Amino acid sequence: MAAIERTYSMIKPDAVRARHMGEIITRIERSGLVIERMELAEVTPEQAAANYEHLADKPFYQELIDFITSGPVVKMVVSGPSAVAKMRSLMGATDPLEAAPGTIRGDFALNVNSNAIHGSDSPENALREIELFFE
Ligand code: RTP
Ligand code: MG
Repeated sequence: MAAIERTYSMIKPDAVRARHMGEIITRIERSGLVIERMELAEVTPEQAAANYEHLADKPFYQELIDFITSGPVVKMVVSGPSAVAKMRSLMGATDPLEAAPGTIRGDFALNVNSNAIHGSDSPENALREIELFFE
């Protein structure tokens, strides 16, 4: 059995506005992963900037910050065997047009700028993001 780890995930404002949070939470639970902590809240501009620091030089950066702070998100700590990779596999590709049907992005999003869900991309970033969003 793979090591139990924690990841940070966030249902983004587009999916909350579209009333998809229940279905997305169901998919995470049905996979066997455990939601250890969950809160509906708005991302602060400071949290958004810290979370997307690595993209600060991209042309889509301001749009990304405006979008992620545009309304409530569902912040989650998710745990289980290989939780980081497992969540990324449930989420599908970053661009929903490339995300397979049956993945969260494949089924609930059509645009790379508003792609339904976030998941940490490494166990190290997961720790950092859990700290950032649940300080
Ligand atoms: P996330 O951090 O949201 O889970 O997404 P990710 O790891 O799959 O992708 P990342 O490279 O971290 O990018 C973060 C968010 O930036 C937006 N993005 N837009 N227009 C573009 O080419 C582009 N590339 C990335 C996406 O909304 C992505 O989720
Ligand atoms: Mg990322």
